[in-house]
Amino acid sequence: MSETNSVRLTGPGGIEAELPIHEGTLGPRVMDVRRLYAQTGMFTYDPGFTATASCRSSITYIDGDAGILLYRGYRIEELAEKSDFLETAYLILYGDLPNGAQRLKFIHDITYHTMLHEQVQFLFRGFRRDAHPMALMIAVVGALSAFYYEDLDVEDPHHRMVATYRMIAKMPTIAAWAYKYSIGQPFVYPRNDLGYAENFIHMMFATPCEEYRVDPVLAKALDRIFILHADHEQNASTSTVRLVGSTGASPYAAIAAGIASLWGPAHGGANEAVVLMLDEIGTVDRIPEFLARAKDRNDPFRLMGFGHRVYKNYDPRAAVLKQSADEVLATLGQKNNPKLQIAKELEKIALEDEYFRERKLFPNVDFYSGIILEAMGIPTKMFTAIFALARTVGWIAQWNEMMLDPEQKIGRPRQLYVGPKERPFVPLEQRP
Ligand code: ACO
Repeated sequence: MSETNSVRLTGPGGIEAELPIHEGTLGPRVMDVRRLYAQTGMFTYDPGFTATASCRSSITYIDGDAGILLYRGYRIEELAEKSDFLETAYLILYGDLPNGAQRLKFIHDITYHTMLHEQVQFLFRGFRRDAHPMALMIAVVGALSAFYYEDLDVEDPHHRMVATYRMIAKMPTIAAWAYKYSIGQPFVYPRNDLGYAENFIHMMFATPCEEYRVDPVLAKALDRIFILHADHEQNASTSTVRLVGSTGASPYAAIAAGIASLWGPAHGGANEAVVLMLDEIGTVDRIPEFLARAKDRNDPFRLMGFGHRVYKNYDPRAAVLKQSADEVLATLGQKNNPKLQIAKELEKIALEDEYFRERKLFPNVDFYSGIILEAMGIPTKMFTAIFALARTVGWIAQWNEMMLDPEQKIGRPRQLYVGPKERPFVPLEQRP
């Protein structure tokens, strides 16, 4: 980050401020408002952080107008085609693609940390069987601080790395066990001879009763979904992880908070909501009815999987997933999958509609991912859990970056107070 020049603000009552401007490697410059209060006695007001850069980061770059997403400078489309999830995870964590030896060591180290403390299974058993897997994931990940407390000094780089590897390695086990518990089947332990996505599929669908062979087409498709979800700069859940982490809390607590933030339908919960919406639409002829509802200000219904705070163009992840949906469903013999037909028609009609064009609302990552996951036999309730599993890499990388940032401070926004002014206490007998 370099300081290029400054901006001079003047306002009524002799307000004057000189604020530095910083330039990154890509994207808009930022005005540094840290000294604004000292110079003017005013704060900035930005609900939803629509115009606020909360940190500097060298991990992920999004050009929302052009529909470009880069992890450490590499295009998402290229990574989805040529890389795999663990290699991408290494890239996100360490900044560069690994060489052969680094790659093998990373895969080995992640693979050999996939088992959970045996006591964790009793935690699962305390929940109701029909609980949402995201509720279990929040609880179990939060509880990891109680199982792995011996290396929780967040100021110690080695402890931070141990937590990083643990999180990436154990998340598929936690997610798969949340599913197994919900259907009353025995937990399946991780297997070190399987790849990352393969292992997850195996823990989801295998039983102790017979040999289960993971379909390599499905493993590849899931691995690609993991890559596409691995990081997305300062979104709601990542900002949550950073905010919690900024207090010095344990990384497990920070990631648990990130999972909680991801769960909402305006964020990662949208992949589940899309499939439920497509179910509700049911047939192509009902699309106009739902589009009319999405456009009606008096109706809270929104077209799920459409729109994004940053993308004002086609989300590049949705483009990859749309193509992937065609390939995976054809391989699975589901070429005429009715949900995919409805989704494509919905997208076509929406993109021609003035309401969506004017507001630059395009399909986002969640629009096609659920269709692929459903075709793979993954239940709807697990969609957001899978998103959380993949995003763990981004969360933990962003947390590590924050921990090393000398400008990092406890996250603590200010407010515009609009409540009552100071007033004397009213005794009970004098209250109306
Ligand atoms: N359907 C209908 N109208 C929409 C939609 C939608 N999906 N998304 C935005 N709009 C409209 C808004 O009503 C608003 O209209 P107005 O200008 O007439 O008031 C305008 O487009 C701008 O929308 P905002 O809500 O102000 O945009 P914001 O950046 O705050 O919200 C969000 C982005 C939350 C993603 C929103 O587009 C949405 O709710 N989409 C559906 C949920 C979804 O798919 N979420 C997943 C996002 S990707 C992810 O988190 C992984």
